[in-house]
Amino acid sequence: MTKTYAVIGDPIDHSFSPALHNTAFLFLGLDCTYIAYRIPKGELEAGIEALKKIGISGFNVTIPHKVDMMKFLDDMDEECKMAGATNTVVNNDGKLKGYNTDVDGFLDPIIKRKIDCKDSDVLLIGAGGAARAIIVGFSKQKARKITIANRTRERADELIKFARNLGLESDYLNLEQAGENANKYKFVVNATSIGLKGIGCPISTENINIDTIVYDIVYTPVETPLIEQSKKQGASIIYGWEMLLAQAMKSFEIWTGRQAPYEAMKLTLLGRF
Ligand SMILES: NC(=O)c1ccc[n+]([C@@H]2O[C@H](COP(=O)([O-])OP(=O)(O)OC[C@H]3O[C@@H](n4cnc5c(N)ncnc54)[C@H](OP(=O)(O)O)[C@@H]3O)[C@@H](O)[C@H]2O)c1
Repeated sequence: MTKTYAVIGDPIDHSFSPALHNTAFLFLGLDCTYIAYRIPKGELEAGIEALKKIGISGFNVTIPHKVDMMKFLDDMDEECKMAGATNTVVNNDGKLKGYNTDVDGFLDPIIKRKIDCKDSDVLLIGAGGAARAIIVGFSKQKARKITIANRTRERADELIKFARNLGLESDYLNLEQAGENANKYKFVVNATSIGLKGIGCPISTENINIDTIVYDIVYTPVETPLIEQSKKQGASIIYGWEMLLAQAMKSFEIWTGRQAPYEAMKLTLLGRF
């Protein structure tokens, strides 16, 4: 019988996930299909019941449900527990197990480049759901300190506590101070939505230099203003699409037990930009 997978969230119609996973299923000749299913905030419980009724094999979870979905899980893996959020669910006969592939998906391009995170200092701009997974990632890799820069101080303070609980040093800068101090960090990571559609740069890049690794998780456009400006300063760049692809590959591998076809999925993704 054909196995069905989905991505749930709202908005969902511009998601790259159906194209990525359907390419992978086709490439490996698997009898599986993947759909986008819009579930508005407040309708998650009913949405999940509907997915169970159609015998969904697994699904991805995106904005705004990554945290709320935790309530409906019967079991979860370590990353999911640490992040307090899930982006990948497996349905075993009505029992739901949650995973968080954003954590290892974020780390994947860093590890591929053989960059050592141990004892490093990180400037993390943003304090939303993605920032949480990134903090878990850096704690797994034994970074030393994470400075959180965010527009809303309260949200940053929550994440500072979260990082400290994971054993990291953590403090706060506002967005202006973050630009002034960017040269003090090995990694500068953008986890805000600033830069989407090519609009805006989260911090001033004038102090970013040749020793800085700039990782922008925003993936549309591929070259965000932060990336463009940081390149001019000589920084090393990690692109948002790399994380997007890696987290999708990890979900695919959890569901199918097969190695995800990197080249086919990458071509599909980059072809869509
Ligand atoms: N590459 C990937 O695989 C991947 C994975 C996950 C997410 N993402 C991308 O990462 C971004 C953040 O996702 P999320 O789930 O963390 O979203 P979220 O929970 O809604 O958080 C949004 C963050 O952006 C900040 N922000 C938004 N508009 C701003 C503005 N005009 N000025 C200053 N700060 C602003 C928010 O600051 P406040 O706290 O002040 O509101 C908050 O820190 C999105 O663009 C998403 O597409 C990429």
